[in-house]
Amino acid sequence: MALRTIIVNRKLGLGFKRNLVGFNNQARRELQTCSLPDLGYDYGDLEPAISGEIMKIHHTKHHQTYVTNYNKALEQLDHAVTKGDASTVVKLQSAIKFNGGGHVNHSIFWKNLSPVSEGGGEPPHGSLGWAIDTHFGSFETLVQKMNSEGAALQGSGWVWLGLDKDAKKLVVETTANQDPLVTKGASLVPLLGIDVWEHAYYLQFCGDHSESAMGYYLSDHGTILLKDMVVTGRPGFVLFKNLQYKNVRPDYLKNIWKVINWKYSNEVYEKECP
Ligand SMILES: [Fe+2]
Repeated sequence: MALRTIIVNRKLGLGFKRNLVGFNNQARRELQTCSLPDLGYDYGDLEPAISGEIMKIHHTKHHQTYVTNYNKALEQLDHAVTKGDASTVVKLQSAIKFNGGGHVNHSIFWKNLSPVSEGGGEPPHGSLGWAIDTHFGSFETLVQKMNSEGAALQGSGWVWLGLDKDAKKLVVETTANQDPLVTKGASLVPLLGIDVWEHAYYLQFCGDHSESAMGYYLSDHGTILLKDMVVTGRPGFVLFKNLQYKNVRPDYLKNIWKVINWKYSNEVYEKECP
């Protein structure tokens, strides 16, 4: 099912009068902020490929934080623009790119996933399937390429299957942090984005690692009670018992193909490359 992206119009009381020569009318601006989109499936519907608890925290904590911080930065930007505060306008750009990118990327990511019962994991058919064979040789070759590049990405980021609309060809790209695919080229359209941030497949345990402290996930967003966590060999990190990946990004990438929603990717491809 499709994920709904909701754009909320927020009236922030930005109405003002301008008494300028030739511009004496009342202008009213509305600042458009974003809100967390709903998923088209339940958090547990992607198991065992992706843990339901990982999905819940990823969506309600991580994505929500990007939305909150993006909206906050927009409001600060609006005030700075109104005051003509160029220094603050410039200073806000990195926060807008990071948090806005996080919102854009995750909104795509949720749509790129689907429960197996709804077709998740079924290889692409139609024109996208043909295009993948043409550009990569086979679907399996594409999967290997994305897994390889995603695993090799230093630090946090994303691995993408994109359409280069100008060159009319498919490309595999990686982006760092929360940079959207368009930062690699203005003509690139994301068909499939896979989140290779650690928070997509395991959780950082920021507190006491002792047995008595088990069951709590301490994050920037507060303390969250969790179940079935186990200490890993890596200090500072825990895993869910029902998550079999043992902190290894390649295992996560290998398994995520079981819940990829190729119907969505094909729809975007056919719309952008008729
Ligand atoms: Fe993420």
